[in-house]
Amino acid sequence: MKLGLIYDRIRWEEKALATAAEAKGLENNRIDVKEIYLDTDWTPKETQKKFGDVILQRCISYFRGLHTTAFLESKGLKVINNMDVSLTCGNKLLTTMKLEKAKVPTPRTILSFTEESALNSIETLGYPAVLKPVTGSWGRMVVQLKDKETAQAMLEMRGQMEGSLNQIYYVQEMVQRPPRDIRTIVAGDRIIAAIYRYAPDGDWRTNIARGGHGDICKVTSELEDVALRAAETVGGGLLGVDAMESPRGILVHEVNNTVEFKGAASVCSVDIAGEIIDYMLKEARR
Ligand SMILES: Nc1ncnc2c1ncn2[C@@H]1O[C@H](COP(=O)(O)OP(=O)(O)O)[C@@H](O)[C@H]1O
Ligand SMILES: [Mg+2]
Repeated sequence: MKLGLIYDRIRWEEKALATAAEAKGLENNRIDVKEIYLDTDWTPKETQKKFGDVILQRCISYFRGLHTTAFLESKGLKVINNMDVSLTCGNKLLTTMKLEKAKVPTPRTILSFTEESALNSIETLGYPAVLKPVTGSWGRMVVQLKDKETAQAMLEMRGQMEGSLNQIYYVQEMVQRPPRDIRTIVAGDRIIAAIYRYAPDGDWRTNIARGGHGDICKVTSELEDVALRAAETVGGGLLGVDAMESPRGILVHEVNNTVEFKGAASVCSVDIAGEIIDYMLKEARR
């Protein structure tokens, strides 16, 4: 069994995954997508030979990952996560709509396409509200709008930014949560690990990439139910389900497609990378 590990930058996680695969005696083929090209003339067999029997998609860039996955899947390869799941999880609105449809509790969200409509939507939600880009990660450009002046200023800045995605305004209620959220790592129908993520000093966002820190989180039956249903509704696979504790229970705000687990690995005793490789092997043999 040859495992393909596709990436555009090697993080701690990619190293851990390669080490875990080696420890299990698996051949692992590491491919930097920036250094290759993909040719429609390749046969499925040729493509499999170049890439591997099962592919783990680890690109940080949403669009690079999506296009590589589209190509490999159409050549008959099994990619984790699949194209549909990647498309959904890389876009916060698509994710929100799937969660909402499946009745997975999620923060109230309003979508609009102009600065004026966005301001109206924020007034409807009330202050403070949260403005986010529909694609993006590590908390970048996720801003808290405390009052009308801040909202107007932020919207004006977004309005001036290049790129059509910057004119998609995804606005969310500010959830009254403790200064932490919950990252749950899901593989198929199982939770591998769960941690609380605490915001770093001077920030309200809890992303580990911003300097936040993790702590062990007990998986309650509510968390298990919500996280597994969230994973299932986006199409399943290897996912990072992020949720917040609110007065009305656990709310899922994001499902991550190429889940980072350095923070979780530093506080959990589970071998997360090993579990991920085992999950891939199981999927490859299905
Ligand atoms: N509606 C919200 N209410 C309160 N905090 C939020 C809300 N949305 C996001 N946050 C905080 O901001 C962080 C980043 O938001 P998130 O939607 O996860 O975007 P990203 O994809 O950039 O991580 C979250 O981890 C959480 O701590
Ligand atoms: Mg997040």
